[in-house]
Amino acid sequence: MALPVVVFLLALIALGAASAPDCKELVKPFMPEDPKQVFGKWIYVMGAGDPKQYHKALESLKSSWIDLSPTSSDQTVTLRWRDHCFNRCIVGEANATISGIATTFRKNLSDHKGHILQTCSDCLLWTDTFRNGDVTGRYILQFTRTGKIDPKHVEIFKKQVGCLNFPEDYHSYDGKTELCPDVKESTQE
Ligand SMILES: *[C@@H]1O[C@H](CO)[C@@H](O)[C@H](O)[C@H]1NC(C)=O
Ligand SMILES: *[C@@H]1O[C@H](CO)[C@@H](O)[C@H](O)[C@H]1NC(C)=O
Repeated sequence: MALPVVVFLLALIALGAASAPDCKELVKPFMPEDPKQVFGKWIYVMGAGDPKQYHKALESLKSSWIDLSPTSSDQTVTLRWRDHCFNRCIVGEANATISGIATTFRKNLSDHKGHILQTCSDCLLWTDTFRNGDVTGRYILQFTRTGKIDPKHVEIFKKQVGCLNFPEDYHSYDGKTELCPDVKESTQE
């Protein structure tokens, strides 16, 4: 009796390993065939930072949204952001430069370089490293069109966070804090 049980268990283990999503696939940089998929407004839903102080910094982000729009150049995208932090709206805009799969932009004196990752449809997943003088760090940020996300996609995000060695206690938008209004302001953070 014992042998068939062992064989059965081994078969189950093999099946489990085959269906476990591979980190390499989960965090492969992604470039959508149609760039229009990434244009428009995106609402922040979850994120993580590294090292610790940047992870903690996400706690002050009560709500956030970004808007990506094309310019006359294929290599340049306008990035606008509205971060609800410290009881005010921090407004900013930058020209992001696309080069292959990498995108670079400057936000709050930091130079960010990153790329998008495979994620759910109507979702945008971004990871980058940034440098400000001698200071470096990295982020992973999940956005959706609605600010909501299906729990099964949260599970995939958690795996991606793990694969990239970000802190596992990811930060989430509470879904309640008002989004900053979309007014074109000339002030930059
Ligand atoms: C983006 O580039 C355009 C065209 O070069 C320029 O007019 C604009 O000021 C730039 N915006 C920012 C935020 O740097
Ligand atoms: C901008 O960067 C400065 C210095 O790195 C930091 O103290 C400040 O908190 C940052 N502001 C925001 C809104 O991230």
